[in-house]
Amino acid sequence: MRISVIGCGYLGAVHAACMAKLGHEVVGIETDPAKVAELSDGHAPFYEPVLDELLKELEESGRLRFTTDMSEARGSQVHFICVGTPQKRGENAADLRFVDAAVESLAAQLGPGELVAGKSTVPVGTAARLAEIVHEGQPGAMLAWNPEFLREGHAVSDTLSPNRLVYGVDTGSEDDPAVALLDEVYAEPMSAGTPRMVMDYATAELVKTAANSFLATKISFINAMAEVCEATGADVVRLAEAIGVDDRIGSKFLSAGIGFGGGCLPKDIRAFMARAGELGADQALTFLREVDAINMRRRTRVVELTRQLCGGTLMGQRIAVLGAAFKPESDDVRDSPALSAAAQLQLQGAVVTVTDPQALANAAKRFPELPLEPDLEVALDRADAVLLLTEWKQYRELDPHETAALVSNKRILDGRNVLDPAKWRAAGWTYKGLGRP
Ligand code: UGA
Repeated sequence: MRISVIGCGYLGAVHAACMAKLGHEVVGIETDPAKVAELSDGHAPFYEPVLDELLKELEESGRLRFTTDMSEARGSQVHFICVGTPQKRGENAADLRFVDAAVESLAAQLGPGELVAGKSTVPVGTAARLAEIVHEGQPGAMLAWNPEFLREGHAVSDTLSPNRLVYGVDTGSEDDPAVALLDEVYAEPMSAGTPRMVMDYATAELVKTAANSFLATKISFINAMAEVCEATGADVVRLAEAIGVDDRIGSKFLSAGIGFGGGCLPKDIRAFMARAGELGADQALTFLREVDAINMRRRTRVVELTRQLCGGTLMGQRIAVLGAAFKPESDDVRDSPALSAAAQLQLQGAVVTVTDPQALANAAKRFPELPLEPDLEVALDRADAVLLLTEWKQYRELDPHETAALVSNKRILDGRNVLDPAKWRAAGWTYKGLGRP
């Protein structure tokens, strides 16, 4: 099929490459000429495992190209909207400027029978509004909402083999002509067994925000248990293992630590609360305020525990922060818990050095005053305390004896509960985890 992908940021660049991998002929349309140049050269403007190889392979095949020119969307059967919906400045609500602009400029290019498929995360009610803009531009065109569930760091495999496909269509029914078009796009994953669910616009939009809210709630639940464990001397890691065995609860997304960050969960729960407020259903989601508050308290807790670890004051203490990305296998530092704790420690007088295998360039843009060091050993040099805040493999595999030779004081705070406390203590370290005795 001929497919256009509007917006080639994180979601769109991955989606465009994966659609070409599925055999379609794809044009990615992006307003930023620098991004288009990089993508056309076979490089993603961000770090995502295997994506660069995929971009090169598909550009060589001739099935994938990138442009800034919206008129090149003409003639595609399906147009995916993949632009960002960031949090509005100073407000909880989502900023829909980019989605509106993309659909408005696309509408003029549409032909009859073509489908606009929204993938961006939007507040419920957006699809119905955008459908009107599409119909004004081309009465014979259609709109569907097809939310994306990919995780950064696993984006390519999550797109090529998603665990479900959700189609929100105008009629809400399987006979809707948009369903057949999307089935053709996703023929390969569907034949491999990916379940596909058809519903109305509002339900499809809510599936996405409800899923992210549930995941955020699960993380904050276990972090709340960590707070109680800290008050009683219990161990949240053992607690999570034991409750996770019950498959109604499940062990995934039950890792207590410094909490969630990134460009999705934090802004999505806030936008969801804001939207519920507009709809007069704010009481239904007041618990998300608590989910957000528990999450933010974890960052403060890391600062407090570091102070304790350093004997009561942070003034002049050399702190090595391992990790800047909001999670491993990503260079994304949006709302990164690690960077937010590092910045707080610095403000309180610590001499902080942050290291990360991928995210330092982005960290430098967001926190220009934070000292950044690409070499792990240099970052650890003469440290008074080591903080593991993003669980990259190389940090999980650190050897306590080799690390001891580099630092001034053998104190470690495991902000992701991924190290073996017994091993570190046996090597003479003062070890602290979050929610652990
Ligand atoms: C999240 C969802 O998992 C995806 O399904 C969704 O498509 C995506 O948002 C989106 O809306 O685009 P992502 O932001 O890539 O994906 O990251 P996650 O893997 O969900 O992790 C989010 C945060 O939670 C990270 O900071 C991670 O360190 C933290 N986390 C995760 C925990 O603190 N504990 C856990 O047990 C799991």
